[in-house]
Amino acid sequence: MKPERILIPTICIYALYLGVQLLFRFVPNSSVNFRNAEANIPSATEHRADNLWAYYLINEENTLSTDFTVGLEPVQGSFMLDERCADYAKQMIADAAAEGIELTVVSAYRSVQKQQENLESYIQRLITAGHNSKEARRLAEKEIALPYTSEHNAGLALDILTPDWWNTHDDVTADFENTEQFRWLSENAHKYGFIMRYPKEYEDVTGYVYEPWHYRFVGVYYAEKIKESGLPLEYFYKTNF
Ligand code: DAL
Ligand code: ZN
Repeated sequence: MKPERILIPTICIYALYLGVQLLFRFVPNSSVNFRNAEANIPSATEHRADNLWAYYLINEENTLSTDFTVGLEPVQGSFMLDERCADYAKQMIADAAAEGIELTVVSAYRSVQKQQENLESYIQRLITAGHNSKEARRLAEKEIALPYTSEHNAGLALDILTPDWWNTHDDVTADFENTEQFRWLSENAHKYGFIMRYPKEYEDVTGYVYEPWHYRFVGVYYAEKIKESGLPLEYFYKTNF
């Protein structure tokens, strides 16, 4: 057999293969752009940790699935969390109160619609303050997560302030760190499974500004480990799993 009899079909098949590869690269396929956050939950059999159901990353690369649902239970007034961690939050609030520290919840579970509204209204606020719309969106997205990427959408996060916060502030701001509520939370939140999720030193890693008011439930075992490590969940989740 002449060598070109084999060579020519081989080249044609290879060219076809390359063509198909190239085509797939440009076909939009949302499933390759992100992972579903809930799919990262570790196997309970391998761990001593409590509440493994809550130990997963939610961020722009690990989004909640569009059919995500959560059973909710109130923790303070109408503010609700996932029913599996609501009691931990209620106990934390009660124990702080017993020590004379009033923790005031100002946000907890938020629907994805509410998340979108919060984001859009904050963008408008920044535009009114003089930012162009691109800059306003960039800044807003460092403070308010996109829908499906917020721990609030999962019913796992609480925003906590002082009872009189709004008398002196018109926004949540980093000076919450100067309050007795923050000091109490820094010493105790981990005992109830909550971590301060967006630390000052790791804004580049988390993608969000320092939020001393935002507490995320990860279970007691991991909350203690994360607090000890001083690392944000992104690093800890990947390196100390
Ligand atoms: N403020 C945090 C990032 C959120 O919107 O979930
Ligand atoms: Zn928050």
